[in-house]
Amino acid sequence: MPVLPPDEHVRVLISEERIRERIAELALEIRAQVGSEPVTCIGVLKGSFIFMADLVRALGGPVRCEFLGVSSYHGGTRSTGVVRITQDLRHPIEGQHCLLIEDIVDTGLTLDYLKHFLGGHRPASLRTVTLLDKPDHREVEVDADHVGFTIPDEFVVGYGLDLGELYRNLPFIGVYSP
Ligand code: PRP
Repeated sequence: MPVLPPDEHVRVLISEERIRERIAELALEIRAQVGSEPVTCIGVLKGSFIFMADLVRALGGPVRCEFLGVSSYHGGTRSTGVVRITQDLRHPIEGQHCLLIEDIVDTGLTLDYLKHFLGGHRPASLRTVTLLDKPDHREVEVDADHVGFTIPDEFVVGYGLDLGELYRNLPFIGVYSP
């Protein structure tokens, strides 16, 4: 049964089916780069938790799961430009092939910060993947190695992304317009 948008302010931008198909492609792209080596997948909380759950299952092979808590939007619809670690890694990643998993790259401040942060932990390699890329908003020159969908400058919710902590449970990516 299709899931209805929670209200008239949300319309579907990327359907569940398109997300599923693209994740299967991303998994092949990533495995083509890392081969059958163990991959340490590092999900950035909270937004990436649903994408990560689907991506790690599509990746197959040996996978470790780690999480980083980061906050940069404090409940509003625009970035504050402040990146804050709210939960650190639980295990060392030194010498491991790592994949940083983001739900969205917007200003790029979070991805840029985390690439430097994780680089300092001396992984054997570090790749980055984001489900969504919103290039119109970049404040720093940084791109993910793998991108699910490039999207226009609209406020998106669902599939992990929130508006005031709501809507993360939508199975599709929606556009919120007040
Ligand atoms: C969002 C998103 C990214 C970051 C991207 O996190 O999950 O981590 O913003 O924005 P940027 O490119 O402008 O830095 P948010 O702070 O909203 O926290 P959440 O994932 O817990 O919702």
